Amino acid sequence: MQWLEERTGFLTLIKNLLTEDVPGGASYWYVFGSATIIALAVQIVTGIFLTFYYAPSAATAWESTKFIYEKVTFGQFVISLHYWGASVMIALMALHLLQVLVWGAYKRPREIMWVIGVTLFLLTLVLGLTGYLLPWDLNAYFASQVAINITGSAPILGEWIKSFLQDGPTMGTLTINRFFGIHVWLVPALLVMLAGAHLFVFRHNGAAGPPADRPPTGKPGRFWPNQLFMDTVVSFIAFAVMVVLAIAAPPELLNKADPNNSTFVPSPAWYFLSLYGILRLAPPSLEVVATIVIPTLFLLLLLLLPWIDRNPRRALARRPYLLAITAVVVVVVVGTGIFGQNAINAAALESGGNVGVCSVACGSETQLAAGAANPLLAGKTTYLQKCAACHQASGAGLPGAFPPLAGNAAVTGDEQAVIATVLNGKTGPLTVGGKTFNGAMPAWKGQLTNAQIAQVITYVRNDWGNKASAVTEAEVAAQAK
Ligand code: HEC
Repeated sequence: MQWLEERTGFLTLIKNLLTEDVPGGASYWYVFGSATIIALAVQIVTGIFLTFYYAPSAATAWESTKFIYEKVTFGQFVISLHYWGASVMIALMALHLLQVLVWGAYKRPREIMWVIGVTLFLLTLVLGLTGYLLPWDLNAYFASQVAINITGSAPILGEWIKSFLQDGPTMGTLTINRFFGIHVWLVPALLVMLAGAHLFVFRHNGAAGPPADRPPTGKPGRFWPNQLFMDTVVSFIAFAVMVVLAIAAPPELLNKADPNNSTFVPSPAWYFLSLYGILRLAPPSLEVVATIVIPTLFLLLLLLLPWIDRNPRRALARRPYLLAITAVVVVVVVGTGIFGQNAINAAALESGGNVGVCSVACGSETQLAAGAANPLLAGKTTYLQKCAACHQASGAGLPGAFPPLAGNAAVTGDEQAVIATVLNGKTGPLTVGGKTFNGAMPAWKGQLTNAQIAQVITYVRNDWGNKASAVTEAEVAAQAK
């Protein structure tokens, strides 16, 4: 040790790190930050292990995940630990954030530490979101599609962010690689650097101590061994919880992602349930407000809190407003989360029918309900769910693969021909606007009700500048016989 100390100053460094004053004495209130670091370490170790086997491409992502589950020794355990580690890490971070918030520890001179902390939380959520796609099973695919479409609905930057995330006209290998790069390189690097900065600034400021207006009198507690002992106990408990969950409740790998599965109801990770609940509560016209405006404002408010809350007091009794608002926010987050989960359960129950996957930005149930009164809207919902993957939401199709429906004379032409195409599908070359297409249009007879087929045909004949007569359910029924 002496030899090492002489050459590196290692012992002095450790001593400096361990001798830190804990104002007001060591306390179990202070353990959430250090437990979060341990959770991060578990994520990094298990994550590196997973990269040994995981192969990011549409042809291999699901297959390699399945391989880890079934063939790799302890593979399922490590994947499960990674999965539950994320949940535990986010829960610990949320507790850490709440504690700092309630105790007013974000106040001067700790503003920078707070901003870095909120950013760390955000980055961890990004990790949760990007990691969700990687197994490439049904839930990964459709839940990520919802997330990507929500980013696309943002004003100004939305389209740009969406095309950055998706990296192509539809989700596929490029998307998996993009998410993989973000999940494995970009965000972890940022996270580790910022966590270092967070600790560095923490050491500069020292611990904030209990929520009182005067610094505690008397001798401060010691980090070593008292606080470190408590940190270790709680970190160990957190780790034990991960291990127990990982063994008892390994996440299920569903069937491989299949864009044509139209009855699967995706569900987000629990930490996004609240956002999802808010989305489901919002009427379709306010979707962007629910998915983009509210979360962005909330984040800004959180980041700028040290400058918004200018009350210099820290004693709890002196800060009734902030505490009340915090309590309300917690209740709303939990409440909307429960609502979101219930909405998913209900949709999954019904999906034997046709609730199906939500496209664009979910809310499809409200849209379906509205559809009874407005067949065009119902047609649009069906279109976005069943047809847009190929013909695109804009109706423009994809050059060389899927013909455009917008400005397509065949679509606005003979009703009977269009009904036949949608009912029975179509193969063989066809020409639209001078371009030849030769693919396979699936048959929808039996997949959609006659009413839905009538609505979707009426819709494609009357959007994107198309204008043609409506098709009735009776007309479809006559051909479907
Ligand atoms: C899996 C991709 C896919 C899906 C999903 C799909 N289509 Fe198609 N669609 C095609 C292809 C490919 C063609 C061209 C077929 C050919 O070359 O003969 C086509 C052709 C058509 C045509 C004929 C266009 C013409 O110029 O004659 C219509 C109308 C149409 N689709 C409507 C729909 C509707 C409505 C839906 C949803 C209910 C839908 N499609 C879903 C791939 C798809």
